[in-house]
Amino acid sequence: MVPLEPLPGACRTPLISLLLVCCLLPLGAQRQEFSLQVEPQDMVVSAGGSLLVNCSTDCPHPKSITLETYLFKETVGSGLGWEAFQLNNVTGDSKVLCSVLCNGSQITGSSNITVYRFPKRVELAPLPPWQPVGENLTLRCQVEGGAPQAHLSAVLLRGEEELSRQLAVGESTEVMATVLARRDDHGANFSCRWELDLRPQGLGLFQNSSAPRQLRTFVLPVTPSRLIVPRFLEVGTSRPVDCTLDGLFPASEAQVQLALGDQMLNSSVSSQGDTLTATATATASTEEGAWEIVCNVTLGGESREIRENLTIYSFWGPIMNLSEPTVPEGTTVNVTCAAGPRVQVTLDGVPAKGPGQLVQFQLNATEKDDRRSFFCKATLEVDGMILHRNRSVQLRVLYGPKIDPARCPQHLMWKERRIHVLQCQAQGNPDPQLLCLQKSSGVQVSVGIPFRVTLNYSGTYFCRATSSQGTKTLTVVMNVQVRKPLSVTIAMVVLTILGFAIVTAAFLYVFWVQKQSAIYHVNRGSTWLPLTSKQPDEALGEEPS
Ligand SMILES: *[C@@H]1O[C@H](CO)[C@@H](O)[C@H](O)[C@H]1NC(C)=O
Ligand SMILES: *[C@@H]1O[C@H](CO)[C@@H](O)[C@H](O)[C@H]1NC(C)=O
Ligand SMILES: *[C@@H]1O[C@H](CO)[C@@H](O)[C@H](O)[C@H]1NC(C)=O
Ligand SMILES: *[C@@H]1O[C@H](CO)[C@@H](O)[C@H](O)[C@H]1NC(C)=O
Ligand SMILES: *[C@@H]1O[C@H](CO)[C@@H](O)[C@H](O)[C@H]1NC(C)=O
Ligand SMILES: *[C@@H]1O[C@H](CO)[C@@H](O)[C@H](O)[C@H]1NC(C)=O
Ligand SMILES: *[C@@H]1O[C@H](CO)[C@@H](O)[C@H](O)[C@H]1NC(C)=O
Ligand SMILES: *[C@@H]1O[C@H](CO)[C@@H](O)[C@H](O)[C@H]1NC(C)=O
Ligand SMILES: *[C@@H]1O[C@H](CO)[C@@H](O)[C@H](O)[C@H]1NC(C)=O
Ligand SMILES: *[C@@H]1O[C@H](CO)[C@@H](O)[C@H](O)[C@H]1NC(C)=O
Ligand SMILES: *[C@@H]1O[C@H](CO)[C@@H](O)[C@H](O)[C@H]1NC(C)=O
Ligand SMILES: *[C@@H]1O[C@H](CO)[C@@H](O)[C@H](O)[C@H]1NC(C)=O
Repeated sequence: MVPLEPLPGACRTPLISLLLVCCLLPLGAQRQEFSLQVEPQDMVVSAGGSLLVNCSTDCPHPKSITLETYLFKETVGSGLGWEAFQLNNVTGDSKVLCSVLCNGSQITGSSNITVYRFPKRVELAPLPPWQPVGENLTLRCQVEGGAPQAHLSAVLLRGEEELSRQLAVGESTEVMATVLARRDDHGANFSCRWELDLRPQGLGLFQNSSAPRQLRTFVLPVTPSRLIVPRFLEVGTSRPVDCTLDGLFPASEAQVQLALGDQMLNSSVSSQGDTLTATATATASTEEGAWEIVCNVTLGGESREIRENLTIYSFWGPIMNLSEPTVPEGTTVNVTCAAGPRVQVTLDGVPAKGPGQLVQFQLNATEKDDRRSFFCKATLEVDGMILHRNRSVQLRVLYGPKIDPARCPQHLMWKERRIHVLQCQAQGNPDPQLLCLQKSSGVQVSVGIPFRVTLNYSGTYFCRATSSQGTKTLTVVMNVQVRKPLSVTIAMVVLTILGFAIVTAAFLYVFWVQKQSAIYHVNRGSTWLPLTSKQPDEALGEEPS
């Protein structure tokens, strides 16, 4: 049995046999005529593994082939000039030495055993939850264990891109890399990989990677958002509020909060490219006064906010009142205009004594006040701004009925067979109904509508205006004249023309006689002729019937 003490070289073994080997080694090497092979050379074995070592010699009569090692060994076969050993549980690098006695002298051969071992752990240090774009990010990776170190390296990766590589040193190796965070790095997977390159030993390249860590990068501009809010808001009303932020990345991951005072607003958020917009409806359900609307954008654990002032006011009124909207003539009517506190009202040019006070006046309703409108203007000053609001109210006065004699001729001289209109109007509220009936027959004549007059229209008429407010009657006398036949008219025209001719002739004669006698003599009476004149207009306007 060989002791299992782990030693770097066989020379430190306390065994006499090994001491002997050490002392004889230079001698044997010099005098060696025969050789001793140790197969395989430069053994590479995974930690805890086993291997077969064959010591063979060309010595014709070899004696006692031995394998010197601190590892547990077993002879698994032997033949002429060779012996094979199995080494189990190889845990560390070591050197094995074969020796044989040949013709009285010792021959030796050796081989190195290299143990390879995969790292126990490879881990990328956690990344910050959010990394600002344009700032340096330091990545750290730890590789623990692994052998042989000369062939082991640690590599930091962004996706498949190699960022940094370092050879292993010591039991634990840390590899670091600094990267400038970019927008493109948002969602990138960073990982760490160890590589054990045993290709020179004919075993290949071994590697394994840490679990990837995904980076989230963001841009949150320092310049605050645009907040569009109304400056004034009346109690009980609602207005939209808009908050917009540009240059945000990734805009879809940002969170926005809109608040009126400490009341959160229900906002709908939309993002387009790098622009984020939140809209909400601000309802002035709180008390009057100065308030603030706050827009708070949070991204990557940072937040930006902007505030805008909003004044909530109440503007009650103006309320206009008539003591009664519809009154009979002669009634006293109260007209009032009132509005909320701090509101100044002016009723038909009459201002209130002070803000918040009402204006009232009385009037004795007359016919002229029917449909009269009263106007009230209300003004409120809110934070330097003057707000206006107007109201009007209309009064109805019940009066009448009345028939104005000037607009309803009471004596009519009409000619038969002509078209005439009976003009007559009645006033009042409510509108009266006007009926004109012939006194004798009770026949109704239409008012305001043209009709052809006949002789039986002659007579006295009662024109009666009726409304809920009473009745008014006016008497109208209509005289219908008989018209001369057409032949009479023609005869009269002929006579008239003839008359003119005679007069002209007489004038010319008198003028001529005076010139002859040179005596001036006027005969006035000769110009007066017993003729009836007729308006030619009237003749032309005649009906052709
Ligand atoms: C050991 O080596 C010798 C000579 O090369 C060979 O004959 C023998 O078969 C080998 N033994 C084993 C177990 O490989
Ligand atoms: C291998 O060797 C190690 C110490 O070198 C020991 O702890 C382990 O039990 C051994 N394994 C076997 C299977 O013999
Ligand atoms: C063995 O050694 C002796 C001297 O030491 C030598 O004379 C002899 O030739 C050797 N035999 C062989 C086979 O080499
Ligand atoms: C074995 O390793 C030692 C160093 O540990 C080296 O000097 C020697 O050359 C190696 N032997 C072989 C056969 O590779
Ligand atoms: C990032 O680190 C590099 C060196 O690794 C340095 O030159 C650069 O100024 C750093 N940039 C910032 C923004 O810190
Ligand atoms: C990063 O890894 C996750 C899953 O591990 C994957 O969904 C994502 O696409 C990867 N990102 C990139 C940029 O490859
Ligand atoms: C590679 O690493 C993963 C953990 O990242 C581990 O589960 C797996 O066993 C490792 N494979 C090897 C061959 O080391
Ligand atoms: C916010 O909106 C949702 C649906 O649009 C509604 O159910 C909810 O009551 C609203 N909350 C407030 C405080 O207005
Ligand atoms: C903005 O909103 C975030 C998330 O709700 C909150 O943590 C932060 O305190 C708010 N910032 C301000 C200034 O109100
Ligand atoms: C809001 O009002 C306060 C005083 O009430 C004033 O100091 C502040 O500047 C105002 N803010 C804005 C954005 O106008
Ligand atoms: C009108 O107002 C006066 C005093 O303001 C009041 O005495 C009177 O009763 C009011 N009249 C009506 C009809 O409301
Ligand atoms: C209203 O005026 C009418 C006539 O102008 C008058 O007869 C009546 O008495 C007045 N009524 C009142 C209440 O002053």
